[in-house]
Amino acid sequence: MKLWEGRFDAPTAKNADLFNDSLPFDCRLWAVDIAASIAHATMLGNCGIITGEESKLICDNLNAIAEDIASGKLEIEGAEDIHSFVENELVKRIGDTGKKLHTARSRNDQVATDFRLYARNAFDCLTESLIWLVESLCQKASEGLKYIMPGYTHLRKAQPMCAGHFFNAYSEMFLRDLDRVRSSRDRANVMPLGSGALAGTSYPIDRDITCDLLEFDRPCENSLDGVSDRDFVAEFLFDCSMIMSHLSRLCEDIILYSTEEFGYFEIADEYSTGSSIMPQKKNPDIPELMRGKTGRVYGHLMALLTTIKAIPLAYNKDLQEDKEGFFDAERQTINCINIMAEMLPSITLNKKRMAKAAEAEFCCATDVADYLAKKGVPFRTAHAVTGKIVRWCIANKRTLQNMTADEYRSFCDEFGDDICGVVKAQACAEARTSYGGAAPECVKQNLKSIKKRLKKYE
Ligand code: ARG
Repeated sequence: MKLWEGRFDAPTAKNADLFNDSLPFDCRLWAVDIAASIAHATMLGNCGIITGEESKLICDNLNAIAEDIASGKLEIEGAEDIHSFVENELVKRIGDTGKKLHTARSRNDQVATDFRLYARNAFDCLTESLIWLVESLCQKASEGLKYIMPGYTHLRKAQPMCAGHFFNAYSEMFLRDLDRVRSSRDRANVMPLGSGALAGTSYPIDRDITCDLLEFDRPCENSLDGVSDRDFVAEFLFDCSMIMSHLSRLCEDIILYSTEEFGYFEIADEYSTGSSIMPQKKNPDIPELMRGKTGRVYGHLMALLTTIKAIPLAYNKDLQEDKEGFFDAERQTINCINIMAEMLPSITLNKKRMAKAAEAEFCCATDVADYLAKKGVPFRTAHAVTGKIVRWCIANKRTLQNMTADEYRSFCDEFGDDICGVVKAQACAEARTSYGGAAPECVKQNLKSIKKRLKKYE
């Protein structure tokens, strides 16, 4: 039965129904829809809008419907949307009293309330998964404290660093995501219920009662905005997009560092795949797929922003398009975070390859220039001298490590015998002790701070 059929002579066309119905996807709102209806019916009873007995009968039967859905006894089908389904079922069970549930309410404030309840939980699931991921990264960072690897800019060797620095960098990103998720959740936790169709209601409702029962921070203050605001959906999708962007970058680094060419990381067999034709292959399908899913989550954000961009106040059916992208982004993002958190401990760090790479390709050149600058040579001059040394090394097939002190001195008198100890990758990394730097002692401090900041979310 349609909730609104009284005004119509003819039933809707079959295809119009198929096009219009949201039950196939909003059925997953059943639990929050029933919770919000119980709060609404309780409030109606408390305010004397319906009697105490009516309120109790409605609530008892809504609870029974919830139990039947949860146990699989009641199948969700045969209605326009989840709100119609629950109400129809209630009327089937208790007749006319059930028809009083929708007093002082519209599906417009109902769906906005349901979806916020649902989103609140989704934000909490994101938080839980992100915590796991940062814990995983911390474990890797702590392992990396013992290792030196090259850091890159422009994907060219730049400077040696403690390998823990790499993992901590990602922890910083996901900590920002945790912060974003928390503040988005706070903004989402405002209750539209009581906004009616758009303009509130003439019944003596008490919105503080429903607000307390549903654990919202406050009722929204403008009914027009209340029924049409989907900022929380956009924020959720943005938060997911940012998380996916961070995951995708991490995936790219893992894929790159685990190639034969780099060989710094090895992904365990359990998280690798093979080729149907090339027997030697061990492919990084898991991080590749995660990188790929990023596009799809960004797509949901763009779709929602485009959907809401020119909607006149207040509710318009366009807003029904807010759900499918949300549900998919939620599923994909949480899945990706969890898989990454699970896969990270299985990645082995190849100490030798990383250490060797951290010294090769003149990774220690900045430290040669800094050495001269610390002896009073202006930095720009020191930079030019070191550039010449690098050029000489390339021409003569030499390295900064196998040059003698005399050879260094042939470029600049300020070089002492100690220069040969300066151009070790370990020494270069250890020297970067500025706050937030890549020296192992700083990385250790950073890790400690990450763990401390993570505690705020647990
Ligand atoms: N299925 C609708 C949605 O998801 C519920 C609200 C319907 N309201 C309306 N006035 N048609 O947005």
